Amino acid sequence: MNKNTFTLKSLKSKCLKGKLSVPADKSISIRALLISSICFGNTKIFNLLESEDVKNTLNCLKQLGIKISKKKSQFEVFGQGGFFAPPLKELYLGNSGTGLRLLIGLLSTKNIDVNFTGDESLSSRPMMRIVEPLKKMNTLIKHNNGCLPIKIENNNDSSLPIKYLLEIGSAQVKSAILLAGLSLSGTTIIKEKIPSRDHTEILLKYLGANIKKEKNIITLKSPNFLKPKDIFVPGDFSSAAFLIVAALITKKSKIILKNVGLNFFRTGLLEVLKKMNAKISISNKKLLNGELMGDIIAESSDLVSTKVDSNLAPRLIDEFPILFVAASYASGKSTFEGLEELKFKESDRLKTMAVALTEAGVNLSLREDSLEVIGNKTQEGGNYVFTKSDHRIAMSMLTFGLAAEKSIIIDDSSMIKTSFPGFKETMNSLNAKISNVSK
Ligand code: S3P
Repeated sequence: MNKNTFTLKSLKSKCLKGKLSVPADKSISIRALLISSICFGNTKIFNLLESEDVKNTLNCLKQLGIKISKKKSQFEVFGQGGFFAPPLKELYLGNSGTGLRLLIGLLSTKNIDVNFTGDESLSSRPMMRIVEPLKKMNTLIKHNNGCLPIKIENNNDSSLPIKYLLEIGSAQVKSAILLAGLSLSGTTIIKEKIPSRDHTEILLKYLGANIKKEKNIITLKSPNFLKPKDIFVPGDFSSAAFLIVAALITKKSKIILKNVGLNFFRTGLLEVLKKMNAKISISNKKLLNGELMGDIIAESSDLVSTKVDSNLAPRLIDEFPILFVAASYASGKSTFEGLEELKFKESDRLKTMAVALTEAGVNLSLREDSLEVIGNKTQEGGNYVFTKSDHRIAMSMLTFGLAAEKSIIIDDSSMIKTSFPGFKETMNSLNAKISNVSK
């Protein structure tokens, strides 16, 4: 075991109870910082997620000459209307695919030279998906065989808006193109074959951009001069997902999660779980800065199997690992299709989860881009999980351990802070048993 890693263990738990707020949404926090940096004036951001991924984006913006201050828990971004100072050194995005891909898009049409790097996981993730459309916009981008390190170069105002058919369901690619097109003269049009989360479109519209969506076509007329307005970041549904499933699979549990983001393109998991017989309800719905949010109530449930087809995949892309956990405890055979994109996340999530669950005693079969899970109310557990440094694998398998017969130990937990600082403490405040492993 590596000396520098922090391992955690989860034990069979029951009676999860409590009412709490989950950490703020990572996708919206990153967008709030990036988009307010190009506003004309100061934007106040309330409830920004203070996780590693968001901090890396924030530090990059500071290196680009954007002043960002913090008073108590409120952030203020001093937008410069799209002007950025050339950074003195490379921009390091750590583990954050969203921070990296959106920032490359935003800066690629800004006439500056910038070098980008990231951690080991980010350095092996595919970047051609953004490089290809951005190059069509006449931007100058150098890459290492489609991966990091990436360099964008000053192209002296020769960027052009494009009309682009987006084949994969990727909000990061869509957002990179929109942010690149925002300041160019002309119309950027994206036709989405598979719709994905629309936080960028919502925030741009809220701040005054000339953007509209009709059916699956997004039209952005530019240039745009964004005006600052207060932004409140809702709780992250993807973080809430671990707590929801924890309540469903443990006995005598009932939890309430306050002010969780309920964006349609993020909440496919709720629809699937409800079909699986989950006792979940929503109250206090409201709309703030264009984003729907509300309270989620989840309680112990007798889950039954389900079938998820590829159309739904982009609406629960980050929730598949925890959905596989729920399916493990549901009676019957669950089938999941259209999982190709899972291979390109912080780890190959399809393979990593299939290995971890199999070693925990779950009966499953893995195909090229689909998975079948034969659920059982009782699962053995007792294994040591190789998380591949992936936060969602770590949290999913710790959640699995809360209902397993024997404890689950994960190899490393240090990366959980990229999205869910205080995961262990939050779980334990609900009566879950997650503890440090003494060596
Ligand atoms: C994200 C989009 C998704 C998701 C990621 C966050 C975003 O990635 O998996 O965690 O904030 O735009 P893709 O766009 O690659 O599908």
